[in-house]
Amino acid sequence: MNPDKVNVLLLGSGGRESALAWKLSQSPSLGKLWIAPGNGGTDAYGVNVPIKPTDFEAIEEFVKANGVDLIIPGNEDPLVAGIYDYFEASPVEVLVAGPSRDGARLEGSKEFAKEFMGRHGIPTARHLSVTPATYNRGVEFLETLSAPYVLKADGLAAGKGVLIINDLDEARKALGEMLEGMFGDASATVVIEEFLSGIECSVFVLTDGAGEYRVLPVAKDYKRVGEGDTGLNTGGMGAVSPVPFVDDEFMAKVEERIIRPTVEGLRAEGIVYRGFIFLGLINVGGEPMVIEYNVRMGDPETEVVMPRLQGDLVKLLVKTAQGNLGDEPADTDPQPAVTVMMVSGGYPGSYPKGKKITGLENVTESVLFHAGTAKDTEGNIITAGGRVIAATSRGETIAEALERSYRSVGLVDFDGKYYRRDIGNEFIN
Ligand code: AMP
Ligand code: GLY
Repeated sequence: MNPDKVNVLLLGSGGRESALAWKLSQSPSLGKLWIAPGNGGTDAYGVNVPIKPTDFEAIEEFVKANGVDLIIPGNEDPLVAGIYDYFEASPVEVLVAGPSRDGARLEGSKEFAKEFMGRHGIPTARHLSVTPATYNRGVEFLETLSAPYVLKADGLAAGKGVLIINDLDEARKALGEMLEGMFGDASATVVIEEFLSGIECSVFVLTDGAGEYRVLPVAKDYKRVGEGDTGLNTGGMGAVSPVPFVDDEFMAKVEERIIRPTVEGLRAEGIVYRGFIFLGLINVGGEPMVIEYNVRMGDPETEVVMPRLQGDLVKLLVKTAQGNLGDEPADTDPQPAVTVMMVSGGYPGSYPKGKKITGLENVTESVLFHAGTAKDTEGNIITAGGRVIAATSRGETIAEALERSYRSVGLVDFDGKYYRRDIGNEFIN
């Protein structure tokens, strides 16, 4: 590998991958960049290749044929399926920036994550894991809690596996239904949790698995589809960074009680982890607690984290994947970034696809990170998913950045376009 010309294969097709590709493309150390499969916008930064992120054999062929030096999995599926271990065992020499299959269990199994936190004294909600055989104990545990009740499918359920239920009878019933396969195999084990009340934020860490780590810009995403945090959960309708309530004192607690025990706990357990850790945190009266781990960057958080990250992302990820982060810098630019997601009407339920998107060329104040877009045979950009395009802007203040994103959103149009008008509202004035 020529460290000044690193050939990168990025896996995924969302707004997160657009933001990663955008940042990678600015790196002086980048050789070639491919995105598999990418979307209607990622070809501005590299070459899209039609390979599924979980098709390891096809990826291996591509790596061999094209001299890929570094694979960056954007989403969790290939990580949970063991892409790191696959290429460790493969005769093809290539780095993978991400956790091993064992490490990916922090996201792939909520039960594993809770037990890991328990072993390392990491603050999180009280819980009990339940299987069909222990349903009755689950009900007893529910009865010791007060409403609302939190029920989580142990395995990956496309972001839908968490139920928050106000009524005890309904919670008992839902527990039974989950164990009987409401989320397929993913809910054969259910984690029951105490409900925590507070404001959430997303903290991202890059760790080389050998003791070095960097804390990346902190973000907050807006998960509900409706204004005022109402309606169904989505992947995320917008994000801001920094998060005003996350001050130095809070971050010092996060680092001491959560980040270090996590990084050191993984090492102590011999779990290979060379990649991003996403800490979904909640601020409970000034004390940080972990809601969940993810083993990848967040979406749409990445669309505000990457613009604020100062540093050479290719170098950072090569060194991470080599287990040798050393003193490679990853500073945070103080200027805020915000992103507003334009989605297809109907999302997160069903929605039409193939709608022509217009006005993209008129946007000058924001970066448009494509998510669910594609190009039709004539080269028009069309909608191809629920979350369509994220408009990211910078500003001296969050308010100024938001004004820019909203002006940009106003210039882009497609049939059924919807977005939240209140992203970051609580941080204005
Ligand atoms: P998760 O998939 O674990 O992130 O859960 C989805 C969402 O459910 C989180 O972002 C929280 O808003 C909420 N949630 C999960 N666990 C809890 C909890 N123990 N207390 C309160 N809210 C929770
Ligand atoms: N925005 C939350 C996530 O990426 O899971």
